Amino acid sequence: MNPLLSRLQPYPFERLRELFAGVTPNPAFRPISLGIGEPKHPTPEFIKQALNAAMYDATTDLAAYPPTAGTPRLRQAFSGWLQRRYGLDIDPATQVLPVNGSREALFAFGQTVIDPARDRPVVVCPNPFYQIYEGAALLGGAQPYYAPSDPARNFAVDWDGVPQSVWARTQLLFVCSPGNPTGAVMPLAEWKKLFELSDRHGFVIASDECYSEIYFRDEPPLGGLEAAAKLGRGDFRNLVSFTSLSKRSNVPGLRSGFVAGDARLMKQFLLYRTYHGSAMSPIVQAASMVAWGDEAHVVENRAMYRAKFAEVTPLLAPVLDVSLPDAGFYLWAGVGESDTAFARDLLAQYNVTVLPGSYLARESAGFNPGAARIRMALVAETAECVEAAQRIVQFVKNRSKQEFP
Ligand SMILES: Cc1ncc(COP(=O)(O)O)c(C=O)c1O
Repeated sequence: MNPLLSRLQPYPFERLRELFAGVTPNPAFRPISLGIGEPKHPTPEFIKQALNAAMYDATTDLAAYPPTAGTPRLRQAFSGWLQRRYGLDIDPATQVLPVNGSREALFAFGQTVIDPARDRPVVVCPNPFYQIYEGAALLGGAQPYYAPSDPARNFAVDWDGVPQSVWARTQLLFVCSPGNPTGAVMPLAEWKKLFELSDRHGFVIASDECYSEIYFRDEPPLGGLEAAAKLGRGDFRNLVSFTSLSKRSNVPGLRSGFVAGDARLMKQFLLYRTYHGSAMSPIVQAASMVAWGDEAHVVENRAMYRAKFAEVTPLLAPVLDVSLPDAGFYLWAGVGESDTAFARDLLAQYNVTVLPGSYLARESAGFNPGAARIRMALVAETAECVEAAQRIVQFVKNRSKQEFP
């Protein structure tokens, strides 16, 4: 067996199952889960119809293996979207690749980039973070370094706190903007800093942008490639962005996304993916093309999240340390006490599931930046999220009465 497998951490939901073992949720309430970050808005009909139509289209050849690089038309759909969304000129022949969701791509990219034979390789990632980054680092033979996000600066990651000796050994940096779970969007100045560090130390930046289309400010979130272009780095050297249809178009079950950026990295990633056997089905390719080509459903989806967050956030703000994030579909709230005790008692008393923040972060330099926080995924319909928020308000009020009778 590969001994590195034993270094993988249990997934947050496994830990949640353990935490909730033996808890009987109050049967007076129907269960509401704000735990899993999985879109629940309906998949647009036109995407399902495109899947259906592609099955019987004369140009769909299920008797042939699809190319790992995707068809030229699919690649043009990616570069067309990048042009419309970010104003970027991307070469569809060399600077984009289809992936079966960004999760597998983020993981596989680590295996492509990391050279475990070099001196004690490091992968830097934000803290809290999406757990796949850690798995990619560990199975790539690298040591993860967790850079904490700072609640006092809208959860910006403290890149300045990473020691130079760590940057010197860094081969890969994961960034997540908009962030899961914080919702923070990285501004241009932060990108500039990271590009300078990448130039100095030669590491690759993997920019996870799967929440880019769900935002609450007027300005759409700045993309990594967009930041590079603005800073005169039109070759996107050492930079790859990861984009997905899962949240944008409510199709996590389709498993469809793409990566774009540095042509040199794309070439090596394509080589890796050919061996890995991760080509996209022609049916999924056809549905993906129509999904990337349509923005009306994305505008509608965003409006649904905006309306929901506008109702739920003010309900919770008087009892929790929480405010409207820049983007994403999570509230990342301070609870002022143990996050695990809060989550367990909330389930027991009000049958609402939230994720303890400490499960999404690691202890580093003596503290866990997820401790005393919870993540709430506002993915269910508004009425259900509002009801959950009302129960949480009641729960917190009762709890403080118990503490200060
Ligand atoms: C930060 C982040 N990146 C990537 C993913 C993976 O999404 P997908 O594989 O559906 O594109 C998720 C899913 O929850 C996520 O939260």
